[in-house]
Amino acid sequence: MKHRGVLIAGNWKMNHGPAETERFFSALAAQFPGGRVPSIEGLQACILPPALSLQAALIHGAQVGVQIGAQNVHWEKSGAFTGEISSPMLKDAGATWVILGHSERRQLFGETDEGVARKVTAAIAAGLRPIACVGETLEEREVGMTLEVVERQVRAVLAPLAKQPGFGAIAYEPIWAIGTGKVASPADAQEVHAMIRGLLEGQSEELAEATRILYGGSVKGDNAEGLLSQDDIDGALVGGASLDAAGFSKIAAAAEKLATMAAAAAGLAERAEQG
Ligand code: 13P
Repeated sequence: MKHRGVLIAGNWKMNHGPAETERFFSALAAQFPGGRVPSIEGLQACILPPALSLQAALIHGAQVGVQIGAQNVHWEKSGAFTGEISSPMLKDAGATWVILGHSERRQLFGETDEGVARKVTAAIAAGLRPIACVGETLEEREVGMTLEVVERQVRAVLAPLAKQPGFGAIAYEPIWAIGTGKVASPADAQEVHAMIRGLLEGQSEELAEATRILYGGSVKGDNAEGLLSQDDIDGALVGGASLDAAGFSKIAAAAEKLATMAAAAAGLAERAEQG
């Protein structure tokens, strides 16, 4: 098991109202013996529904051992911001995580690096765990700008994340891989994740050690194991495949398998050392 733990997070985007949310969690419970996502140390599953389905997800997710989060927040605590939700409100409602700076928000709703940094700061101040998203477009990849673009986006959130090392996470989601079925190869994803780890290390050793870096973009049951077995891939941010219980549980099962194998290897190593 990676010592910082593995997070499998499902970003539902604008899908599943409250009734569908309840159906999803009943179906998810049916996927696992005992009706709960396996509680192996360091493995955490999380679903991020639309805000309207948050309450239903909190009630039913808790029974299945799944944490719940949101997809966005405003950076202020309260005030005249029609249509917005704040971090303290989400925390009060029982949310654990929040996705910030998803590429859809950057591309369709004009979010900037600076705005994302303000949101990360606000979330942490409220005790809500941010998952800051970064990633390049296809054009940027094709002209060799991947590392440069991702570095700029990561640098914007380094200082807020460093306030509480390991509390927040980063998700690398190459935009060309989102919803396209074109997953990054484990080696290509690992290259960017290692660069992100290096940037975290530049801020502090502790931040690099503690921060989970998730991969997102067409993660499915059949490619999850290859991605999650990379050194610097500490989980997955899953879109389409998280909408159905069978799809999400396959990814959680891949993470569970790796965690079990790593725990067994660690046990063997410890026994060898002792004796
Ligand atoms: P897909 O898994 O559907 O490619 O979406 C990824 C994503 O955007 C998760 O935030």
